[in-house]
Amino acid sequence: MKHVYVIGIGAGDPEQLTLQAVRALGRAEVFFLLDKGEDKAGLVRLREEILERHAPRPHRIVVATDPDRDRDAATGAYAPAVDDWRRRRGDIYQRLIAEELADDGCGAFLVWGDPALYDSTLAILEDVHARGGTDFDWTVVPGISSVATLAARHRTGLNQVGRPVQITTGRRLADAGGLPQGVDDVVVMLDARQAFGALTGQGLHIYWGAYLGTPDEILLAGPLDDALADRIRATRAEARARKGWIMDTYLLRRTQPPAPRGPADTAGGPR
Ligand SMILES: C[S@@+](CC[C@H](N)C(=O)[O-])C[C@H]1O[C@@H](n2cnc3c(N)ncnc32)[C@H](O)[C@@H]1O
Repeated sequence: MKHVYVIGIGAGDPEQLTLQAVRALGRAEVFFLLDKGEDKAGLVRLREEILERHAPRPHRIVVATDPDRDRDAATGAYAPAVDDWRRRRGDIYQRLIAEELADDGCGAFLVWGDPALYDSTLAILEDVHARGGTDFDWTVVPGISSVATLAARHRTGLNQVGRPVQITTGRRLADAGGLPQGVDDVVVMLDARQAFGALTGQGLHIYWGAYLGTPDEILLAGPLDDALADRIRATRAEARARKGWIMDTYLLRRTQPPAPRGPADTAGGPR
């Protein structure tokens, strides 16, 4: 039967490859890479570099073009836009597995960071498998995520003692207007709008990182006030203009209790 490895390759530093990942790289004879356009060509290059160093057996690299996606869809239209994009990506995966892998062949998708975190590869493969007609099995190799890298580079943990931590998107943080009740640590990913800018002066500390694990890495941290928010925005804009793309992630940590927001927050308190 055809076999597909989904290999987490770490968040930008080739040395984040695990020994398990290296072993899986050595087993595959076809590697599927998705090209996300000119400005992100560096992301494909990192994968090619990993293959040059760690894929010893003769292999082929098949590059497919990632389908376009409406990233500016309004909140209500966001889920249908993602569903449509996933379906079209599924069509590509199905074709790659059907046409590029021999019946007993072994292929691999190289997934940025950890495949379990804000990545659609696992859901899409499950969907393609459920469609039937393409018989294959698959194995997932975990990777070092950008979240783990962010925490390590700032030399901090993600949670406080016995407390929860939430991982969310910039879009959701902006819609919620702040940290959820009862959660003191929130990791924010996929934030093109810099939702942290609306949360200054609320007793939060921010640990921000861009291009983590790469030679372009930028780290900024401190109490989230207007000056730091402006500095992160300016740094981000300058780096994005210079490189043509940016990937950044941040941890927001509540360091002071939230101020009461209205009658609902004080109900039951001292009168
Ligand atoms: C589609 S998600 C993929 C996450 C990935 N699976 C992981 O485990 O990190 C892309 C988001 O991850 C974050 N990210 C990925 N790599 C990063 C890096 N090297 N530096 C900073 N953020 C990164 C950014 O928030 C980016 O918008």
